[in-house]
Amino acid sequence: MAVRIALAVNGKRRAVTTDPQRPLLDVLREDLGLTGTKYGCGEGMCGACTVLMDGKPVRSCITPAADAAGKSITTIEGLADGGRLHPVQEAFLADGVLQCGYCGPGMILTAVALLDENPRPTDEQIVEAMNGNICRCCAYPEIVAAIRRAAGQGAEVSTS
Ligand code: FES
Ligand code: FES
Repeated sequence: MAVRIALAVNGKRRAVTTDPQRPLLDVLREDLGLTGTKYGCGEGMCGACTVLMDGKPVRSCITPAADAAGKSITTIEGLADGGRLHPVQEAFLADGVLQCGYCGPGMILTAVALLDENPRPTDEQIVEAMNGNICRCCAYPEIVAAIRRAAGQGAEVSTS
């Protein structure tokens, strides 16, 4: 049975009437038109669908819509502030880090959550935090470098 679910998405109050078990990903993409959040595996295994829920990364493909009730959701469309890209977005764009870009929204939101919690992460901490976000183009060294750059730590790419 459909129920009314109120949530805040990118700082705006929204309400949807839907099956409470429907994936949050579908609500975002189909009901709210926020197609920046991507469908990858649909099983919580790739990170393409990552959004922030109250500042923490969640896999929206396996998050029931009901879990978002009363929560603050941030999608890639909501990261820019007053027309200014978030520093993590700037860093990813600066050197053309991504190839096809499909993993980008999930990668960027996961990195934003990391830097909010740990503004000066080591490479090991970056790799650990990003573990589980899959890039089919294997841009991993460049992604780590971009996160270092967003953290103001330089951007040497280590391939070892
Ligand atoms: S689409 Fe959600 S983790 Fe892959
Ligand atoms: S850049 Fe293509 S999936 Fe990551």
